[in-house]
Amino acid sequence: MSDSEDDDIPQLSSHALAALQEFYAEQKQLAIPGRDGKYNAGVIEENWQLSQFWYSQDTALQLAQEAVAAAGEGGRIACVSAPSVYQKLRELHREDITAYIFEYDRRFAVYGEEFVFYDYNNPLDLPGRIPEHSFDIVVVDPPYLSEECLRKTSETVRFLTRGKILLCTGAVMEEQAAQLLGVKVCKFIPEHSRNLANEFRCYVNYDSGLDCET
Ligand SMILES: C[S@@+](CC[C@H](N)C(=O)[O-])C[C@H]1O[C@@H](n2cnc3c(N)ncnc32)[C@H](O)[C@@H]1O
Repeated sequence: MSDSEDDDIPQLSSHALAALQEFYAEQKQLAIPGRDGKYNAGVIEENWQLSQFWYSQDTALQLAQEAVAAAGEGGRIACVSAPSVYQKLRELHREDITAYIFEYDRRFAVYGEEFVFYDYNNPLDLPGRIPEHSFDIVVVDPPYLSEECLRKTSETVRFLTRGKILLCTGAVMEEQAAQLLGVKVCKFIPEHSRNLANEFRCYVNYDSGLDCET
């Protein structure tokens, strides 16, 4: 091949080549199983009959990151009536942690083995594959702001946790939450994708990143 033939081959500038490489890298990321939107928080629409009010993306992310930090390496996280936190954990591709979603809404059964049907009215009616005290942290957001709902849900939480609890619920539940679960209110204020009439708070029973000044 002569020099003049070489000169005819179109060449990309280094800038265009870098852009092309970046494009291919992005396409490769999108092709990873699980990056298909199945885990996007909000992909399953709110059903207000079931008291479903999803967190904002930012709150779901902060709670998921807090759960990972609290659970530790290879930790086990139970998301009880808090599907957005489970979805965010999976969206983050934290394959090093184990996460389960305990939910009444069977639409979340799309998550397979990690879905556990759960009704707070039967707090200890859980499958045999879920042993007592088998989660490093339980993240929980009970569906109703009532003493009965919090009391029954607390039974489940105490059964599941090895110690750590991260509760999100109304500010009005502070005293009952302290009595039932020994949790204290955090400085971090959870937000929802829609504005809610009730003030919400996070409560923990351990030294948590959510307690820092924001
Ligand atoms: C206040 S929402 C909390 C959702 C949270 N903010 C999130 O974004 O993940 C309450 C959750 O409780 C679930 N729920 C409704 N009825 C329930 C029941 N009987 N037992 C357990 N959970 C129930 C709803 O499906 C919903 O996911």
